[in-house]
Amino acid sequence: MENIILVIGANGQLGSVLTGALQEKYGSKNVIVSDISEQKTTKGIFERIDATNMDRIQEVVSKYSVTQIYHLAAILSANGEANPLKTWDINMKTLLNVLEVARINNIEKVFYPSSIAVFGSGATQVNTPNDAYLDPATVYGISKVSGENWAQYYYLKYGLDIRSIRYPGIVGYQSLPGGGTTDYAVDIFHKAVLDETYTCFLSENTTLPMMYIDDAVNATIALMEAPKEAIKIRTSYNIAGVSFSPKEVVSEIQKRIPNFNIIYAPDFREEIAKNWPKSIDDSAANADWGWTPEYNLSEITDVMIHALNDYYNKENKSKKDISLCI
Ligand code: SER
Repeated sequence: MENIILVIGANGQLGSVLTGALQEKYGSKNVIVSDISEQKTTKGIFERIDATNMDRIQEVVSKYSVTQIYHLAAILSANGEANPLKTWDINMKTLLNVLEVARINNIEKVFYPSSIAVFGSGATQVNTPNDAYLDPATVYGISKVSGENWAQYYYLKYGLDIRSIRYPGIVGYQSLPGGGTTDYAVDIFHKAVLDETYTCFLSENTTLPMMYIDDAVNATIALMEAPKEAIKIRTSYNIAGVSFSPKEVVSEIQKRIPNFNIIYAPDFREEIAKNWPKSIDDSAANADWGWTPEYNLSEITDVMIHALNDYYNKENKSKKDISLCI
């Protein structure tokens, strides 16, 4: 049977890059790109979907005989704190809609992203294990812990083949993050290539788990392509890339852009970050489906600076405009 993939939330930081990789792999005609907002790329088949509307998801699934769903839509950790009840409603309603549509239509596979935000003060912060105690302090984290358990419930009760990864902060040049606690690790590179001072909302020594976007995309596809019997964890898999603090990124940037300057002005996001792991134990992902990351901080810095320099030079972008997607 041909794979027909529906990506929900395709305009986001991960979605916009993952969608391209899926189109490459499965063919553009087999990937239905969807988001609540307008089409971002001109490539492929686009359907506007507000995932709080189950009928609309069903309509698109029926129209294209969808066999797999990647459900990426969510309100992230920092933005979520502005309106906790709305964040809970949106994050849970969209997931439950996807799970129900998947169950009713015998969808072959579902992907659900979780996050390092599931961890709270009850988990050890260094090499945090997959089965750590989960007591998140953000509504986003609470919704992801619940989502992981709902995913496992649909697997156990209905046999739905749903798979999940706990992403660390994702760093890439192609898209901007949308309201998370790890966003600084992308924004800082834009300011650096634009010769602007960066005001950082975390403290200089706040270390968080991070990952280059290509690693995140490869992990997702590797998990989804692994044989069903290899997937032993049906809540969500820890995956690690690199861990670094703002100070360490600055030092890497300054090796390449010596005049780069940063000011530290920690805000509420520092409190969120302080509760999260510093590093992640991803041995289960490695053992079950062969996960290994490729990019270290120095390589991430090289590729970010190179690509963003090209982008800002070639496109002659205004220094003020960093609301881009490449
Ligand atoms: N990058 C996300 C956030 O900061 C973590 O899932 O919210």
